[in-house]
Amino acid sequence: MQIALLYAGILAFSTALAATPTTYYSGNLTAQVYPRQDGWSKEIAIKVYTFLNGLTGTVANGLDAAPIYLFRADSSVSSTPLQPNLIDVVPGDSGYSDLWNITIVTIKGSNSTSVANIDDLNTLVSSGTATLSYPGILVNCPVVHPNSTLEVASDGKTVVGYYKNLLVKYFDFGMNGANNGNNYLEPVWVITNTTGAQSGNHVFPGVNTDPGYTAFWYVDFVSAPAGYVANTWKSSSDFGSAKESVSSPLVIVNCPVVFVANATSENGTTTTTSSRSSATTTTSSIVWAFLGLTAVSFLV
Ligand SMILES: *[C@@H]1O[C@H](CO)[C@@H](O)[C@H](O)[C@H]1NC(C)=O
Ligand SMILES: *[C@@H]1O[C@H](CO)[C@@H](O)[C@H](O)[C@H]1NC(C)=O
Ligand SMILES: *[C@@H]1O[C@H](CO)[C@@H](O)[C@H](O)[C@H]1NC(C)=O
Ligand SMILES: *[C@@H]1O[C@H](CO)[C@@H](O)[C@H](O)[C@H]1NC(C)=O
Ligand SMILES: *[C@@H]1O[C@H](CO)[C@@H](O)[C@H](O)[C@H]1NC(C)=O
Ligand SMILES: *[C@@H]1O[C@H](CO)[C@@H](O)[C@H](O)[C@H]1NC(C)=O
Ligand SMILES: *[C@@H]1O[C@H](CO)[C@@H](O)[C@H](O)[C@H]1NC(C)=O
Repeated sequence: MQIALLYAGILAFSTALAATPTTYYSGNLTAQVYPRQDGWSKEIAIKVYTFLNGLTGTVANGLDAAPIYLFRADSSVSSTPLQPNLIDVVPGDSGYSDLWNITIVTIKGSNSTSVANIDDLNTLVSSGTATLSYPGILVNCPVVHPNSTLEVASDGKTVVGYYKNLLVKYFDFGMNGANNGNNYLEPVWVITNTTGAQSGNHVFPGVNTDPGYTAFWYVDFVSAPAGYVANTWKSSSDFGSAKESVSSPLVIVNCPVVFVANATSENGTTTTTSSRSSATTTTSSIVWAFLGLTAVSFLV
């Protein structure tokens, strides 16, 4: 008994004393200002961000999630954080996901912790000093370069966590949909014209006020006929069966919807055009072309 207590005491002591990370992870990440991009959903103009972090999943089972560790005095996610959150994968790593499965860590006998890598956490768990619990909450938090920002800062919270004894920055877009979040994948329709080039803004089936909303989309190409005028298709009902049938996603993008135009005032070309600048439309096509999506269309 005394040995057990001493052991627990040493572990609590060592977690309190572990070096606090001060250097940021940047790895292969690129510092950038993420632009708001234009899209359509059910005839309405929307704005999204795009993160392309090598996400994996299937249409049937949804997006794969990765664990994120939240340190709390009790198993409630809303209790005061005891230290920054811990992750063990970053973009490029096998098992990385922008969608995180919240894991609550409670540490016996200490509210003063500094666990900055997964090995230290595993040691605490194996000795029974730390206990893990899973509230079943899925959050959308893409890891980004420490100097990256959102075009509109208030579109997502910026959070600093721990990763392998380093600091790591991510944007927090909150739970992925209602009811503690989900891992659903939905199609995003990329319209291509007869030359195979992307034409106009992408079309999304839903926005974040819809039940079952997800920010995670698999790319589904839609071939427009000759003479198609960009941005006339703004809803899947406009193009019907022109879309492909995707069973195995080639590219999964994280596009949180951050703005939905006023459905009354933004319907129709006149008002919608006034809300979009040609500058952002251009950026939109550049960023999506960068994803290699046009090239992918020739592979399917
Ligand atoms: C979250 O983690 C728990 C515990 O490992 C697991 O049971 C659950 O299936 C995970 N959820 C997702 C969406 O990965
Ligand atoms: C970073 O890039 C290098 C060189 O391309 C590669 O070997 C390494 O696996 C990458 N790391 C991650 C986490 O993507
Ligand atoms: C940790 O904080 C919780 C809630 O504030 C409190 O109930 C508990 O006694 C504290 N534990 C220690 C070891 O200080
Ligand atoms: C971030 O920007 C600052 C100021 O420009 C620069 O000193 C620093 O090196 C940058 N950090 C990284 C990781 O590139
Ligand atoms: C196809 O789209 C590209 C890029 O928007 C455009 O340059 C080209 O003129 C279009 N071609 C046709 C046949 O519509
Ligand atoms: C949305 O449209 C309604 C009805 O036309 C109008 O009263 C309201 O001010 C509009 N809101 C915004 C943010 O444009
Ligand atoms: C938007 O325009 C379409 C086509 O003119 C119309 O069918 C639809 O009812 C309009 N939606 C709203 C919300 O006004």
